[in-house]
Amino acid sequence: MSDNVMDQIVSLCKRRGIIFQNSEIYGGQNGFWDYGPLGTELKRNVRNAWYHDMVASHDELTVLEGTPKAFSMVGIETALIMHPRVWKCSGHFDLFNDMRVDCRECRARYRADHLRIKVARSDDGTPLAAWGFMPGSDEFDWSGAGDKKLAKSVRERCEGEISVDAAPMTLANYTASLQPSEDSGEIAEHLIPRCPNSSCRGPLTEPREFNLMFKTIVGALGTEDDAAFLRPETAQGMFVNFKNVVDSSRVKVPFGIAQVGKSFRNEITPRNFTFRSREFEQMEMEFFCHPGESQQWYTYWRDRRFAWYKNLGISDSKLILRDHTQEELAHYSIGTADVEYAFPFLAEGEYGELEGIAHRGDFDLRSHMEGKLVADANGCLVVEQDEHGQPKYRGSGKDLSYFDDQTRERFIPHVIEPAAGADRATLAFICEAYTEDEQPDEHGKMQKRVLMKLDPRLAPIKVAVLPLIKKEGMPETAQAIYRDFKAAGINAVYDQQAAIGRRYRRQDEIGTPFCMTIDGETATDGCVTVRDRDSLKQDRIPIKGLVGWVQERLK
Ligand code: GAP
Repeated sequence: MSDNVMDQIVSLCKRRGIIFQNSEIYGGQNGFWDYGPLGTELKRNVRNAWYHDMVASHDELTVLEGTPKAFSMVGIETALIMHPRVWKCSGHFDLFNDMRVDCRECRARYRADHLRIKVARSDDGTPLAAWGFMPGSDEFDWSGAGDKKLAKSVRERCEGEISVDAAPMTLANYTASLQPSEDSGEIAEHLIPRCPNSSCRGPLTEPREFNLMFKTIVGALGTEDDAAFLRPETAQGMFVNFKNVVDSSRVKVPFGIAQVGKSFRNEITPRNFTFRSREFEQMEMEFFCHPGESQQWYTYWRDRRFAWYKNLGISDSKLILRDHTQEELAHYSIGTADVEYAFPFLAEGEYGELEGIAHRGDFDLRSHMEGKLVADANGCLVVEQDEHGQPKYRGSGKDLSYFDDQTRERFIPHVIEPAAGADRATLAFICEAYTEDEQPDEHGKMQKRVLMKLDPRLAPIKVAVLPLIKKEGMPETAQAIYRDFKAAGINAVYDQQAAIGRRYRRQDEIGTPFCMTIDGETATDGCVTVRDRDSLKQDRIPIKGLVGWVQERLK
């Protein structure tokens, strides 16, 4: 495998029309990505696999393994912009913040929790200077052009040996360790952490809160008072429609409402290809259940969502289900677990989040009934008050409780929320599938082969139909087969250009699981050669049964 697998993957994605930098001809728009023709198919297949599993193929009559009873699942599609009070009551308006720091010189902006601080010290441990770096990136280079200035100022303050802390600190820990100077009461200039960019090293600002929601003004005559927000999650669409769904469909608690759609977050440092973007797609489901059964449902969804990724090809060794520690848990959450994947851009032993499964109690429905909730001294959720003792943000005032007509009980359902990212899942499937091996070419010489071992259900193209040569009726037979696939709704390509080996490699690289070659024998035996992408095994399959043969493998 190449040294930098991620570079190979990004370049393949561009070369083969999977993912492009957004607005590339204008220099690109940071944090935004476009999906090309093949990427569009791949991501649609990921989305469809999720929706199929959650809603379309869900059997609402049968008690499933691990569940207390049968349940319904329905879909919903809600608007990207919601009433501003939604975000005030949900807590996003006040709390959906990241701490950011800016470089005072080059104006680069960093997420405070992404920076690590290295400290240079004198013999006796006195700090001489501190600078930020992003884990996995630039180490301090004492001789580098940009670092000369910093190196000089460090040497000026130290007569003896200079050492650099082997273990970097978080920005918060570093700041907490600083003592203001006794004379000025301020932090000494040389101890203010400096920009991670080695050709800048300007001083960084204090960490400041930054709300991640994109603001927009609604209406031609709108003012700041009409400010609305692009949704930072799809989930609120399900909460505010809970009552509409109960009243308009025949669902009974327990049931789930699922949605796939765009979300927007003004991320301070979008990075790692599509992993952290400013516009992305979520696949979220809110499962409403009786409080007494919620723990069982939480376990059920946690295990089921973890299994989904494995079922679609993510290997055991690269996937973990990690329970949040007590400190990580949101104040209203009874339990949260993340499905995490060992992305190739992360250091050995590190994982990136694909999905969070959270037990949210009755926090969301209550917030939209009563107003923004906060925890009181006993940890109970109460409506937050303003300085006049009034609710800080008033809820809708609507009754979002549920009446169970069998048990005659009224209650506010608890919510279990599996919240996944369609772009992150797509990226994980791409990274997992990317493979390099060596295969002999037509002259027996070993050649490097790049292939994507995508699950056939996710592959953008399912079948390539290839006439061996452009004569003897082979193209006509191949075109008829190709049309049969298209008519059956199976994404196929027809390719008669170049030597057969090259055509195979073109398909391997984009993950096409089956190549079907129409050759000299086809006219007599009515069969084609089907080549398997991964094993390279070749089988003769009758033309008559080809569509069914593929359909069987896409189930
Ligand atoms: N409603 C809960 C919620 O939104 P989240 O953990 O903030 O939870 C859910 O987001 C999923 O959305 C994440 O696990 C991730 O897959 C995806 N996601 C979140 N922020 C993202 C970003 N900036 N870029 C790409 N995907 C993102």
